[in-house]
Amino acid sequence: MFDFASWAQPQRAQVEQALQDWVGVGAPAGLGEAMRYAVLDGGKRLRPLLVLAAAQAVQGHAEAALRAACAVELIHAYSLVHDDMPCMDNDVLRRGKPTVHVAFGQAQALLAGDALQAQAFELLTPPASEVPPAMQAQCCRILAQAAGAQGMAGGQAIDLASVGQPLTEAQLRHMHRLKTGALLQASVMLGAACGTVSAQGQQALLDYAQALGLAFQVVDDVLDVVADAATLGKTPGKDAANDKPTYVALLGLEGAQALAQQLLEQACTALERSGLSDTRALLALAQQVVGRTH
Ligand code: IPE
Ligand code: IPE
Ligand code: MG
Ligand code: MG
Ligand code: MG
Repeated sequence: MFDFASWAQPQRAQVEQALQDWVGVGAPAGLGEAMRYAVLDGGKRLRPLLVLAAAQAVQGHAEAALRAACAVELIHAYSLVHDDMPCMDNDVLRRGKPTVHVAFGQAQALLAGDALQAQAFELLTPPASEVPPAMQAQCCRILAQAAGAQGMAGGQAIDLASVGQPLTEAQLRHMHRLKTGALLQASVMLGAACGTVSAQGQQALLDYAQALGLAFQVVDDVLDVVADAATLGKTPGKDAANDKPTYVALLGLEGAQALAQQLLEQACTALERSGLSDTRALLALAQQVVGRTH
């Protein structure tokens, strides 16, 4: 039996320590405080764990994997800071704390997001003695694509343009794949890029990551309806209040929950045919994503 908690605890601790050491250190004029507030003490660290689990599956380069794990978390944290701003979802609670713009003001929140995004790429590009340059370039490419117009930022644009619009299942899936799926997929592919993997393994990891990425946002939509603020650490009911198209709006609560289960099965099947030697952590992470309560 694979004990997920025992696997995750030291991995998380390693990521927390690296983030503590790196994020916003030396940033001027209060910017560092806002960056650290956005990133430290909070968050499930799902994306870093996916990087590390995928790197483990391909016996990846440890330093590269840790840097990639932190980098993707910085992009994620930046996306949350901007997502919560009044011009986007206008949220006041995140990770159980007042949102960054509430605590530090809108201008500082904007800049903290900007600086976190830049720092992510700085982390991916240490001296060549620490991570082989070709691996660095590959990681930068994966993360940039996932964060940009064809990924998270593009998905957020669709999200805002879709307020009050009934979307088809295909349109909703496309939006979710970009706004949330892209960074989760990138997490897995970053881990894979830290090692060597067969074409079959690469494709299986991609299929796993796509199913998991969509499942994650389906569950996020469900939790917005069923969870309370204390458990969630963010304001529930925001999607309906903002008239956002969601999987719950499209399929109903049970339909959305059934879809999440179906996607979990797809993710598991992909791992089974990956030919990779150790996919236990990836499997457990998929189960966590679908079974989570926050
Ligand atoms: C929440 O992501 C925002 C979405 C992308 C839907 P998480 O649920 O992973 O948030 P944290 O990192 O644990 O706070
Ligand atoms: C946010 O989606 C996705 C990104 C931040 C890219 P949501 O708006 O649904 O996330 P929550 O529910 O506020 O965490
Ligand atoms: Mg949003
Ligand atoms: Mg939001
Ligand atoms: Mg949400």
